[in-house]
Amino acid sequence: MKPVIKIQGACLRPVTDEDEAACLALLRKPDVRRYLCDDRVLSGPDMRNMFAQSAAQDRDGLGLWMIENRECGCLGLAGLTPVGEPLHNLAAMRGGVEPVIAVDPALWGRGIARQSLAALVHYAELELHLGALVAAVDAPNAASHRLLEACGFRRNGEARGKAYDLLLYKRPISGPRLAQIAP
Ligand SMILES: CC(C)(COP(=O)(O)OP(=O)(O)OC[C@H]1O[C@@H](n2cnc3c(N)ncnc32)[C@H](O)[C@@H]1OP(=O)(O)O)[C@@H](O)C(=O)NCCC(=O)NCCS
Repeated sequence: MKPVIKIQGACLRPVTDEDEAACLALLRKPDVRRYLCDDRVLSGPDMRNMFAQSAAQDRDGLGLWMIENRECGCLGLAGLTPVGEPLHNLAAMRGGVEPVIAVDPALWGRGIARQSLAALVHYAELELHLGALVAAVDAPNAASHRLLEACGFRRNGEARGKAYDLLLYKRPISGPRLAQIAP
């Protein structure tokens, strides 16, 4: 069962079925879907499938959270998900847990993703006792690279993705760097 995770001025709340429409609207926005969804416009069944996977991962403390506050409602979507196909085939990614973050483009640049990811790193260490998180990001996704680097992820490889080259990252989640990104 996933907890509610507080960040400054907002919280990460585990998704419920009632959040499907808001998530679909967010993930369909061109600036959000460009790299996160390989620019694919997700369908209702795609979204239901994502929520079903999140529900199945809940027992391991993984899955999706809404990033929200009272003032604006949905600010974005955050998640921790087991690496699936085809990235699972890469040695650097196999068996790993990967963060997912999408923030409403109207709210970009305010630190919402940085705080959310930092909070997920803390949660992954303190509650899930994971040794590391991994990530694979499309080479042109500049905001994601900055975000991952700001949260202590370091490059550890490259691979060929569907549309772009992928840069691979790893974030060991114990040790002194953790204090530097405390939310
Ligand atoms: C990646 C994303 C989640 C960042 O959200 P955000 O709330 O704007 O990020 P923050 O304000 O916390 O900023 C995090 C870092 O990204 C940088 N950044 C934010 N928007 C940027 C942009 N458009 N271009 C370049 N860098 C950007 C910030 O400057 C910051 O880096 P810094 O700490 O070195 O200054 C957001 O751009 C997004 O939703 N993108 C679409 C979904 C996606 O591709 N997700 C993959 C995430 S792994």
